[in-house]
Amino acid sequence: MQFPTVRPRRLRASKLIRDAVAETSVDPSDFIYPLFVKPRGEPEPISAMPGQYRWPVGEPLVKHVEEAVALGVNKFILFGVLPDELKDAVGSGGYDPEGVVPRALRLLREAFGDKVLLFADVCLCEYTDHGHCGVVKERRGRWYVDNDETIKLYAKEAVVYADAGADFVAPSGMMDGQVAEIRKALDAHGFYDVGIMAYSAKYASAFYGPFRVAAASAPKFGDRRTYQMDPRNAYEALKEVQLDLEEGADIVMVKPALAYLDVIRLVKSHFPWVPLAAYNVSGEYSLVKAAAAAGYVDEKTITLEILFAIRRAGADLILTYHALDAARWLKEGTPF
Ligand code: PBG
Repeated sequence: MQFPTVRPRRLRASKLIRDAVAETSVDPSDFIYPLFVKPRGEPEPISAMPGQYRWPVGEPLVKHVEEAVALGVNKFILFGVLPDELKDAVGSGGYDPEGVVPRALRLLREAFGDKVLLFADVCLCEYTDHGHCGVVKERRGRWYVDNDETIKLYAKEAVVYADAGADFVAPSGMMDGQVAEIRKALDAHGFYDVGIMAYSAKYASAFYGPFRVAAASAPKFGDRRTYQMDPRNAYEALKEVQLDLEEGADIVMVKPALAYLDVIRLVKSHFPWVPLAAYNVSGEYSLVKAAAAAGYVDEKTITLEILFAIRRAGADLILTYHALDAARWLKEGTPF
């Protein structure tokens, strides 16, 4: 070989030097940990999501959050799970002040004060008997989700969650104008300090399969393709993000994460000053769990590789079910 030579391998020669020049970090403080909460009963393992539970509002939930906080995971997003008999056509369970999410918010706020940040998902699919994310109507023999009626209910839901102690509300229904409607309602009720994390670029994705088992929220007919984004589109995400920013979003989100790393990068490049979250969704989690259980992949290494990839693509925050495992593994040091 000729001299002088450029040798990139010098910077890979030991763990110490690799750590010193690593471009990307992942820390438990980057995580938002999703929690499924149900009205009562025992913690119930979710079959489609090994390691995840439906938590009754009570002591077991507090214990679990305590465990998370001890690991440095202090941000949580709550999803309500209702038995079928409490669902109805307009998702009343979602904006009932005594509903499952407001009760969980009050419990966690009381137990942890300002040691935790609490996000509340704002949608109706967990609370409607038909499983769609809004009010379903019919016109000329075709069903549709009524946009403008639905966002009024989201606004009502957001105010209930703000009143119960949410730091951020997170509208995930992909209705047009939902962020503006929610911002207006929060301000009208004096909740200027409650932020909005908007699911801005949320794709109609098969990666949500296990979540819909967990929350029993699959649509009973049709699909969500008239409101969630088409997986073939990347640039359209910029339109959605820009609109949400104009409407008052504080944090924007790309969802899912792993099959949409290009979209995360695109959004970060165009709006570098905007805090960006990425949702490492249920299907991404369960695929890893299944492959690891089968012995096909090394769970720790593949999970951390995925989380670093999401940060490398440009996400500031990651919503992930791997949060507790990853926090433990990060304490041991990265395998890279
Ligand atoms: C509710 C909602 C969904 C997810 C988050 N909020 C499901 C859906 O749109 O069907 C999916 C999260 C995941 O898969 O982990 N609209």
